[in-house]
Amino acid sequence: MRIFSGIRPTGGLHIGNYLGAIKQWISLQESNECVFCIVDLHAITTPYDPKELQKNILDTTAVYLAAGINPEKSVIFVQSQVKEHAELAWLLGTITPMGELSRMTQFKDKSKQHKDYINAGLFTYPVLMASDILLYKGQAVPVGKDQEQHVELTRTIAKKFNQKFGKVFDEPETILPKTGAKIMSLTDPKRKMSKSDEPKSCISLFDSPEDITKKIMSAETDSGKDVIYNVTKKPGISNLLTIYSLLTDRPVKEIEKDFVGKGYGDFKKSLATVVVNYLEPFRRKQKELQTRDVYVKDILAKGASRARTIAETTMAEVRSKMGLA
Ligand code: TYM
Repeated sequence: MRIFSGIRPTGGLHIGNYLGAIKQWISLQESNECVFCIVDLHAITTPYDPKELQKNILDTTAVYLAAGINPEKSVIFVQSQVKEHAELAWLLGTITPMGELSRMTQFKDKSKQHKDYINAGLFTYPVLMASDILLYKGQAVPVGKDQEQHVELTRTIAKKFNQKFGKVFDEPETILPKTGAKIMSLTDPKRKMSKSDEPKSCISLFDSPEDITKKIMSAETDSGKDVIYNVTKKPGISNLLTIYSLLTDRPVKEIEKDFVGKGYGDFKKSLATVVVNYLEPFRRKQKELQTRDVYVKDILAKGASRARTIAETTMAEVRSKMGLA
């Protein structure tokens, strides 16, 4: 299967991004043809600092590599280095109904969050995302829950294109992880963990051991003291149990047993150790790659070249079907 996914290089990737998306990519790359993108054109739809963007792109690449994405196997590249993404987005924009775009919850959320930055790019963001996927004829898209609606719209656009101009695209399916598709904020466990929230609310993949420990120890928990999974009554502890379980590869039930008769404090201390240890390779890789700019840029250049070959072929087909060539 051809797999496509991407992450915005907005700085501070967190364990939600890892558990919702990247962790799935690692196993998928074993038996599929995978294309993993760093979507910088999406990152500029919300306020950003141009001086930070290149650093964030390299940091995101470091995360991909530290997590275990193998650049020999999978294609890793930066979206803006393959100009066909923007071209296809324009073409697909001409068949995407405004009404569909107005329904997108991410657009609604982000325009509430950045009231003075509601730009046309933010509105047409899902069309660019559909173009990312369809340019590579992606058949499956491993993402977290919040991106499901965008992949559904991609299916709608693919179907519409095929009906109107003749079959070019597959209708891609979403791959959600069984657990971890929506990791919640540490400070408000009723909300999704998000890069744009206060730093205390999310654990960055590059956080220092001290920061990780501080954030987990002060994470919002619930009344009572038993370490038990119950999303409605104990959303805070349930979220922490989910993280614990995913990072140790142990069932929640077994972890609950370890903490019978102990309180939230002991549980959080143990979770802090688990997270600090799990994220150690990320901190190491980031440091290592900071001194190996040339190596990282070389991976991205090779990735872009492989991506371009596929993208150009698809575009030739699309142009021809649409009567543009
Ligand atoms: P982005 O950059 O916001 O997030 C990257 C990935 O992380 C997942 N994610 C989460 N998963 C679980 N719990 C959370 N709290 C959490 N927060 C984020 C997201 O679902 C996503 O999989 N539009 C996309 C980027 C994109 C893309 C694409 C993805 C652009 N083009 C094509 C797939 C295919 C986005 O903003 O993701």
